[in-house]
Amino acid sequence: MKLSATLDDLYQRHLSCTVRSDWGYHNLLPWERGKNFKTLPWASDQGNLTPELTLAVETALLTEINLPWFTAGLKQMFDTGPSALKAFVRTWTAEEDQHARLLDVYLTLSRNGNPDRRAKLRRKVLTDGYEVGGDTGLAVMVYTTLQELATRVFYQNLATAVENLDPALTLILRTVAKDETLHFAFYRDAVRAYLDHDPALLGTVASIIPQFRMPGSEMPDFPSRMRTIADTGCYDVENYLSDVMDPILRAWNVWERDAPDGVDDVRKALFTHRDRLQRVATHRSKTP
Ligand SMILES: [Fe+2]
Ligand SMILES: [Fe+2]
Repeated sequence: MKLSATLDDLYQRHLSCTVRSDWGYHNLLPWERGKNFKTLPWASDQGNLTPELTLAVETALLTEINLPWFTAGLKQMFDTGPSALKAFVRTWTAEEDQHARLLDVYLTLSRNGNPDRRAKLRRKVLTDGYEVGGDTGLAVMVYTTLQELATRVFYQNLATAVENLDPALTLILRTVAKDETLHFAFYRDAVRAYLDHDPALLGTVASIIPQFRMPGSEMPDFPSRMRTIADTGCYDVENYLSDVMDPILRAWNVWERDAPDGVDDVRKALFTHRDRLQRVATHRSKTP
């Protein structure tokens, strides 16, 4: 099957899955918890989450809020590409559009975190902007496959962490995680189609993976945010390795694929990168 026909099929598959999982943020938010900030100003003891879990939800929000920059980058990269990719970016944008709003309004209604501080952070993150990683359509898709799966894993783990504290937030996070799962599946299978079409592209795939950073890594205090999130057990280097990178490497058959001339060195560098991450994860698991 031609590459463009495979991508068309993947887009149609995505559309049929999203029809089944369609949702509106108005149905998920705990409106009954909302109070007027003019008559009841915010105070730090009003929220029900720990400061660490609040920071984790806020970090998710500040990542999702970069959507205009993600869309701008993807649109630019796919502008000369197959029509299915151009159509997918539009559909994907409409789906992602609910994520930041849902998390932001949840934090506001539940009074978790200072809303004035959060408004300043939102503005700063959007003003700073975000550059989509990769300089070709395929490179961007490799990057985005990792991003979608990383956010899915993070949201699922965060949902489990708040399960006994906040059923509304649990449902919100699991709903968004389902969207991320479908986005991940599209990009994963699109990249695999490119690899099957042209085995030399394994070099691009293998060279992009070590450059991966969590989306939103430009936000203020990102390293300390990630340390706090790691301490909550919601996401760390071990999750990245075993729940994100390794499943993707398996799905793309990166280690076993026949490597054309020149690609094997890039694959060896990827192996070294993976090995280094494994050592960091092992060291972390042994550190009390
Ligand atoms: Fe999202
Ligand atoms: Fe997504």
